Amino acid sequence: MKTKVTKAIFPVAGLGTRFLPATKSIPKEIMTLVDRPLIQYAIDEARAAGIKEFIFVTSRGKGALEDYFDINPMLEQTLRKSGKDALLDTLKTTNMESGAIAYIRQHKALGLGHAVWCARRLIANEPFAVILPDDVIAAEKPVLQQMVEAYEQTGGAMVAAMEVPPEKASAYGVLDVEEDMGDLVKVRGMVEKPARETAPSNLAVIGRYILTPNVMANISKMKSGAGGEIQLTDAIAEEINQDRGVYGFRFRGQRFDCGSKAGYLQAMVAFGMARDDLRDEFTAYLEEMVSVRKAAQ
Ligand code: UTP
Repeated sequence: MKTKVTKAIFPVAGLGTRFLPATKSIPKEIMTLVDRPLIQYAIDEARAAGIKEFIFVTSRGKGALEDYFDINPMLEQTLRKSGKDALLDTLKTTNMESGAIAYIRQHKALGLGHAVWCARRLIANEPFAVILPDDVIAAEKPVLQQMVEAYEQTGGAMVAAMEVPPEKASAYGVLDVEEDMGDLVKVRGMVEKPARETAPSNLAVIGRYILTPNVMANISKMKSGAGGEIQLTDAIAEEINQDRGVYGFRFRGQRFDCGSKAGYLQAMVAFGMARDDLRDEFTAYLEEMVSVRKAAQ
């Protein structure tokens, strides 16, 4: 029987330069979609997939992220006294069981592979998930849950994959497909940020992974790759060289790249329009904006 995936790593130690100056003092993961920070969406997705241990790889200046998961007794008391029960319930969704969260420090932003490797002692000899909170995915069934279900059939290493236009493939890790089975593809190679003419497909890796402890061992041996960083993609590709299964999983859902300004704004609109309490007012405003713009053209 395959070992259940109960640990997830959240690498949040990046500099977030695309959101400067905001990220000078706010971690990117604390930015909100409507009223919930990006990290809350990631945690909820992990919980739905059966994750019990949440490992954050953090860095300098990420204190707000740690505070976010603490209980705030004064705030709770004030809300209780004023009978704001609905808000109290909302706050409760941010509470984590004691001991469920661990914070590990990445002292230098040496790349995603290195960030994941920083958590190696907490992972020990178990499979684990990796979630990049700036990839937010709206989905009927949370994407990590979809992947865990597929992983129960395949084992091995699994990456979330998505078709992208060929001219965009060079911004991603890209899969070289050995066998296409529909939702699942068997992978024979992976390249991080390939030049357009050398991209092996337009199937791109996005920020959800289920990995084996062996991938950790591979990272230990890695030298820096594309962009001078220690790449997670290279450590996963190494699994294929060692004849271990690597799969791409075509998830069902809409992914927003909240690490980029355009993607973040699109997510804000989509999540705003999805909310019952905001939909009518917000949609009417957007329609008005569009017609004003059209009239001005
Ligand atoms: P990004 O490539 O989005 O980098 O990292 P970034 O620093 O967050 O943002 P920009 O590009 O400067 O705007 C993808 C994920 O990997 C984490 C980031 O926190 C993000 O969740 N990461 C990246 C680390 O934890 N450590 C690193 O050394 C690099």
